Amino acid sequence: MTASTRTLVTGATGTVGSTVVRALRAAGRPTYSVSRGGTEGTHHFVWRMGEEEPPAELRGSWDAIVHCVADTRFGLPDGDAEEANVRPLRAALSLAGPDTHFVHLSSSFVTGLEGDITSPSRDAYRNSYEWSKATAERLVHAERDNADIVRFPIVVGARADGSLDRYSGFFWLPAAMCNGAVPALVAEEKGLLDMVSTDDIAAHVTRLLDSGPPRGHRLSVLGRGDDAQRVGEAFDTVLDALNDWRAENGVTPLDRLPYVTPQQWNRFYLPFAEEYLDRMQLLKVTAFRAYQGYLSVTDPFDVTVRVPDTRDVLYRSIRRWAKTHETSARRVPRPWRA
Ligand SMILES: NC(=O)c1ccc[n+]([C@@H]2O[C@H](COP(=O)([O-])OP(=O)(O)OC[C@H]3O[C@@H](n4cnc5c(N)ncnc54)[C@H](OP(=O)(O)O)[C@@H]3O)[C@@H](O)[C@H]2O)c1
Repeated sequence: MTASTRTLVTGATGTVGSTVVRALRAAGRPTYSVSRGGTEGTHHFVWRMGEEEPPAELRGSWDAIVHCVADTRFGLPDGDAEEANVRPLRAALSLAGPDTHFVHLSSSFVTGLEGDITSPSRDAYRNSYEWSKATAERLVHAERDNADIVRFPIVVGARADGSLDRYSGFFWLPAAMCNGAVPALVAEEKGLLDMVSTDDIAAHVTRLLDSGPPRGHRLSVLGRGDDAQRVGEAFDTVLDALNDWRAENGVTPLDRLPYVTPQQWNRFYLPFAEEYLDRMQLLKVTAFRAYQGYLSVTDPFDVTVRVPDTRDVLYRSIRRWAKTHETSARRVPRPWRA
């Protein structure tokens, strides 16, 4: 790396991008950043990627581009997911020259239902997020002779204190547990719930950039693999963290939610709910359907980079969520009535 080395991080205000920017700057790498909204700064640009031309300052050669833009919601219509996860990638690729070290962030779940990214068919994926992220990976392969693709599972906060710049994705769970939106956990208690800290991703991206562009396409898969926490254990950690925080703040503890397997749910509970719950209750109950597939995973991911244990960082992340979302964390769930 020379003093003139320029690195661009897209999606820099997000859960992952913000930590990546801090890590690269801390490592002494001149780093510029992009987000869709926010305020411009000396090294930060506002650019709606895929919707408008890049700001003039971003044209020219980049030594490295780390692409962190995404919309991680599972329930977007297919066209919207493609707009959110593929179009901005095209815009990022348009800034890269042949010598640019291009790093594309992806998801461990990108392999969908068939175990790889090759199928363009929507049916091969659980939801539009997986499908559009797989399309994005195929685009990187098609457009670049070389690139790093980095996949990882659920993202939790910093290892030291659980902090995150943005609480999205998995953090529906503590919110739903406190407001009573989930009457039961539709999950395989012994399933695997793999996760990583934002620090693990940022450290890995820093190492990749330090090692220089790969020859061809290099895939890293971060996670705990077969050492991942079991779903039941992870939910207990979430409950402990919430109840410890609630005890310290004088709020009644939450009860442990009952487990229902996806088969039981779909065969017995859902038909009952459809018959007896009102529209709002039904909406709440089914809003979490999108996550069911992820709470019943029994085959571990084949990780190439095994991250340190994630139990403590999950506990800290949930406590940190409670501290920064006090109104939600103080809610007392009301019992469900049909
Ligand atoms: N979070 C997870 O649990 C998780 C798990 C596995 C993989 N991943 C992957 O990790 C990567 C980062 O995700 P994340 O969780 O950090 O996402 P995030 O928190 O939702 O952040 C998304 C970032 O992208 C920016 N952005 C979105 N659309 C844009 C556009 N059209 N033009 C410019 N900027 C745009 C956002 O800017 P604004 O803030 O201005 O909107 C924000 O900075 C993605 O590849 C995602 O698929 C995430």
